[in-house]
Amino acid sequence: MTTPAPTSPAPHLSPVLGRYFQRTWVRGEGHRLWDGDGKEYLDFACGIAVTVLGHRHPRVSAAIHAQVDTLMHMCNGLGFLDPVTRLADALVATMPEGLDTVYFGNSGAEVIEGAVKLARKATGRPAIIGFSGGFHGRTYAALSLTTSNVNYRTGHGPLLPDVHIAPFPNVYRDFGGDEERAVRVCLDHLERLFASQLAPSSVAAFIIEPVQGEGGFVPAPAAFLRGLRELADRHGILLVADEIQAGYGRTGKMWAFEHAGIVPDVVLVAKAIANGLPLAALVSRRDLQARWGTGSHGSTYGGNPVACAAGVAVLETIRDEKLIANAAARGAELRAGLEALAAEDPRIGDVRGPGLMIGVELVKDRATREPDPIGDPLIERCADAGLLLLTCGAHHNIVRWIPPLDVTSAEIAEAIGIFRTQLAAIGR
Ligand SMILES: Cc1ncc(COP(=O)(O)O)c(C=O)c1O
Repeated sequence: MTTPAPTSPAPHLSPVLGRYFQRTWVRGEGHRLWDGDGKEYLDFACGIAVTVLGHRHPRVSAAIHAQVDTLMHMCNGLGFLDPVTRLADALVATMPEGLDTVYFGNSGAEVIEGAVKLARKATGRPAIIGFSGGFHGRTYAALSLTTSNVNYRTGHGPLLPDVHIAPFPNVYRDFGGDEERAVRVCLDHLERLFASQLAPSSVAAFIIEPVQGEGGFVPAPAAFLRGLRELADRHGILLVADEIQAGYGRTGKMWAFEHAGIVPDVVLVAKAIANGLPLAALVSRRDLQARWGTGSHGSTYGGNPVACAAGVAVLETIRDEKLIANAAARGAELRAGLEALAAEDPRIGDVRGPGLMIGVELVKDRATREPDPIGDPLIERCADAGLLLLTCGAHHNIVRWIPPLDVTSAEIAEAIGIFRTQLAAIGR
């Protein structure tokens, strides 16, 4: 992310927000975006994994218009609203059996806050465990669990007490590609933590991204998630899956935790849920939220009926157009294309991730794995060439590929072509 130039087009906007690009976006249609100069881009960033159906999807737009013309706001605290009830029903239908109760918020961070409060209240325990490299948002509980980049935390402390960070099994970066060792070391660490420092009986929840997003598109090995589930069961700890970036079909399954064959106690959803309107959801068993206590949490805007009407249209479209299968099939093509590129260019140290959530890690040297700082200049060049990609990871050396779920093979080929040309042009 770059610091705004002195000639910023918006001198009154706060500099606190890092911006990937100093461009002004004016229009979107399908998988294409246009800037203020009329330049066209193929959008493989999706507003950071949000517009999974592209821009101005006709079904979503129609649902939004119809709801705006019917009822735009009525706080959920005043009663029931049809689009809200319908989206809760539809969301629950995508969940494993038993995860049948939905609380709606407005943003990812907001439902992370909700999950921390719910876990503490429902278990009567104070401690929360997150994982290194995780990103869960910028509000205080979310920030206390966020360790993907020190810049987010610096100067903001003290953070929430009794939040602990355990090692995440980053197989490529920390374990030389040895997945089995990564899983063993990270599960052993938790066992040692429980034996020496933190009684498991004081732990309310583990909160984990099944595939880390901002931290570098790093999938948690299935065996690690199964081990966590087992530890959680053994000690009465809740397992919270942050599916805010990885969920909603992106990984080729509706929920990323499905790859590990586990069922979390709480699932957190945002980003894709309303294809661009602010909305988020916390889903769990009913008994858990019953223990939260009526009135002990809430929000004026959470579960806005227009956003929920959009959300129903999103889920119906994903189902009717079989977009999860498309994500799996197109993801395999994308991955094969990027792996072929990696065979040509040693700066690509790793290509990883399921479905349409693929990270390309750029390194100076494959042996040392030293991060190569060309990520941001590379995506700038790609943007100049008409392709919108983003970076992630503490060093911005991982290019993330998060195209819409209805992306086509032709668009994938187009994107890989641009990426290949720009990577070659940036020089070794
Ligand atoms: C995995 C994950 N959790 C939480 C958040 C926070 O979401 P929001 O920006 O809507 O607060 C994000 C945002 O990028 C995320 O990727």
